[in-house]
Amino acid sequence: MSMKGKTLVISGATRGIGKAILYRFAKEGVNVAFTYNKNEEEAQKIRQDVEQQYGIKARFYPLNVLEPEQYKDLFVEIDKDFEQVNFFISNAIIYGKSVVGGFAPFMRLKPKGLNNIYTATVLAFVVGAQEAAKRMKEVGGGSIISLSSTGNLVYMRNYAGHGNSKNAVETMVKYAAAELGEWKIRVNAVSGGPIDTDALKAFPDYAEIKAKVEEKSPLNRMGYPNDIAGACYFLCNETESAWLTGQTIVIDGGTTFQ
Ligand SMILES: NC(=O)c1ccc[n+]([C@@H]2O[C@H](COP(=O)([O-])OP(=O)(O)OC[C@H]3O[C@@H](n4cnc5c(N)ncnc54)[C@H](OP(=O)(O)O)[C@@H]3O)[C@@H](O)[C@H]2O)c1
Repeated sequence: MSMKGKTLVISGATRGIGKAILYRFAKEGVNVAFTYNKNEEEAQKIRQDVEQQYGIKARFYPLNVLEPEQYKDLFVEIDKDFEQVNFFISNAIIYGKSVVGGFAPFMRLKPKGLNNIYTATVLAFVVGAQEAAKRMKEVGGGSIISLSSTGNLVYMRNYAGHGNSKNAVETMVKYAAAELGEWKIRVNAVSGGPIDTDALKAFPDYAEIKAKVEEKSPLNRMGYPNDIAGACYFLCNETESAWLTGQTIVIDGGTTFQ
């Protein structure tokens, strides 16, 4: 079954993992509706580049995952630009001021910071996936993915807020999968070990994490955004993963077992 001409909706595709996923799908002829938060200029560049290189349709839209209800208007805009929605990937993650009290050692955790991370990770996934599922039902099915991270499997300093929310979103994925299967919609999570992106570079102990991953991984290197993009493509490709739903695929360079 060809992926050409289908449409991917993905949040936070101006950088890092989201950008790599967008390019992976665009290269295969998939149209892309993607969101940015602050980097409108970069979004414009990406749109021009993928349209020129791959002859697909690309459009970008503003989104703040701290306001999950924004997804409702966002999908209305997407409906005007695209005939169908086949894949949805909840990828965007917050950083900076909004994670203060959430990205912290246990004794400095604060409800507001923790709630922000929960909102951006779990609630944004729920509203985005609901809107996407309504459209997928109309076209006979689709694939929904949430990004997750192995910070819910192994200890990472300051990561309690994110680790907990990733745990929660993986559970939400299973519930969504159980209920959306009747519409032929598959729902999965892709969980990454430390991947070399701006988000990770913002960690105060980035250099230490990088050295540790390189030492711990049997493959002796960090993960890169493309390592995650391939799994997302696989999960959206009906030919390759038709009976795969309600799961988390862990891509960690073998670090979690070490
Ligand atoms: N990096 C890792 O080690 C790692 C490992 C496992 C899983 N993950 C997961 O992979 C996903 C992507 O992470 P990444 O490392 O690629 O992040 P990143 O490089 O920091 O990119 C974050 C993306 O989210 C957007 N964004 C930021 N604040 C937003 C907001 N309030 N509302 C909507 N969008 C917002 C950014 O848009 P603008 O640029 O326009 O502001 C950007 O496109 C996340 O879910 C993360 O938890 C990451």
